[in-house]
Amino acid sequence: MKALGAIGILVLLAAIAVATYLFSGYYNVAAREPDPGAVSWALINIRQASIKQRAPKEVPVSLDDSAVIQEGAKAFSQNSCATCHGAPGVKWAKFSEGMRPYAADLKKTAKNRSAGEIFWIVKNGINMTGMPSFALLNVSDEDIWNIAAFIKNVANVSPDDYKSWTEPASPEPMGMEPATP
Ligand code: HEC
Repeated sequence: MKALGAIGILVLLAAIAVATYLFSGYYNVAAREPDPGAVSWALINIRQASIKQRAPKEVPVSLDDSAVIQEGAKAFSQNSCATCHGAPGVKWAKFSEGMRPYAADLKKTAKNRSAGEIFWIVKNGINMTGMPSFALLNVSDEDIWNIAAFIKNVANVSPDDYKSWTEPASPEPMGMEPATP
């Protein structure tokens, strides 16, 4: 009984110590400072497991279809993804270099993640990283699958391809008749 009482007191003291540490402002949330190793280890591993568990396994688009990849490039450009991640021939905005974690290099993502995982991430976003949920912005599943196909193939998209696929169509001629003297 005595031992149990002692353990109870120790647990209580530990809980008070943890609460004091967390709620009195000792923990530094500055993006400038790296998270302590244990925190970033936990965040990364929890994130990976969560995404793996939830990502769809069935892919409803053909990932090698060039029409799908081009539509994906368009949706990628229209939704400002390049602002943070860059794109073939497009540099990310300077502010993105101050984000922690950094916006991922999508060539690496293409190698390390399945199309289903990319779809899930873009649709749902990732808390505590700054990656937005594009479902919250009403981007359709179809557009997001096209984006996943584009990212899976991003290493083979040249800057010229990207530019010609994403630049707006040239405006219609005005249809004005030249003034007759
Ligand atoms: C405000 C900046 C920002 C914007 C805009 C943004 N992202 Fe992200 N994105 C991030 C950050 C930060 C991460 C987290 C990096 C990590 O996983 O370590 C991330 C993660 C990702 C990942 C997972 C990378 C990986 O390998 O873990 C994918 C895929 C992705 N973004 C695609 C997109 C697409 C597609 C768009 C546009 C529809 C987009 N992002 C828009 C900042 C951004």
